[in-house]
Amino acid sequence: MKQTFVIKAFTVIVLLAVAQIINGCKEDEKSEPDPNTNSVASCEGCHTNYAHLQEVYSPDTAAPAGGCGGEAPHYEPYDRVYMGGDGYTAYKQSGHYEIGCVGCHNGTGNTTDKTVAHSGDFISHPSMYAAEKCGSCHQAIVNNFKTSIHQGTGQKRKVTIRCGL
Ligand code: HEC
Ligand code: HEC
Ligand code: HEC
Repeated sequence: MKQTFVIKAFTVIVLLAVAQIINGCKEDEKSEPDPNTNSVASCEGCHTNYAHLQEVYSPDTAAPAGGCGGEAPHYEPYDRVYMGGDGYTAYKQSGHYEIGCVGCHNGTGNTTDKTVAHSGDFISHPSMYAAEKCGSCHQAIVNNFKTSIHQGTGQKRKVTIRCGL
């Protein structure tokens, strides 16, 4: 009696494990770029069109980062800037979506020309202008960040002490 139960329990566990593995594979398929063909005449349009990003990207000029731990995994520019999958879905539902790309990154919207889009006062990293770009909604975080250890504030103090300054 007891033995049958153990065998049954074991079968259930094996089946669950197999289901988990199959599910895991499905997850991987989901993260594959979506072959959509959005109009490329806008920041969002081009950045969600994987095939077009592959056509217009500029290949990297610097060698991939290396070191004693071996080479870092390399991502092509179009993979680094493609917006898709769950992250893009979440972004569309977030309070940030209404701001629009140009609201945070500046540049020129509604053009098919990558160079024109990324020109003028274009900002690749809006967090470097946090006071201006994030402060209107996240004032307290922006204020605290100035002295956060993420800024190196703590390390700076220690290094200064070591230098005898
Ligand atoms: C026609 C396609 C296209 C359009 C339009 C376009 N981009 Fe890009 N963008 C790219 C590609 C391709 C890259 C990858 C780098 C490269 O090849 O220049 C990129 C890179 C970027 C980067 C990373 C830059 C860096 O230095 O790390 C940001 C941020 C960005 N785009 C934002 C925008 C914004 C904001 C707009 C609209 C104002 C826009 N893009 C319009 C194709 C486009
Ligand atoms: C709420 C502000 C905000 C909005 C809106 C926004 N971004 Fe960004 N974006 C950021 C921040 C912050 C980063 C991370 C880089 C940093 O600032 O350190 C980033 C990073 C990126 C990168 C990667 C840059 C790199 O060098 O790897 C791309 C590409 C990009 N954004 C494109 C877009 C596009 C296209 C849109 C519109 C669909 C958009 N962003 C809307 C704030 C924003
Ligand atoms: C127009 C208002 C507005 C601006 C400007 C804004 N945010 Fe937000 N942010 C929000 C709202 C609203 C939320 C709450 C959650 C949501 O809607 O996604 C949020 C949430 C966040 C979160 C938490 C996200 C999460 O998934 O929990 C981060 C991180 C963040 N913002 C960073 C930034 C940064 C960095 C900037 C500037 C580049 C910025 N925000 C600019 C409105 C804004």
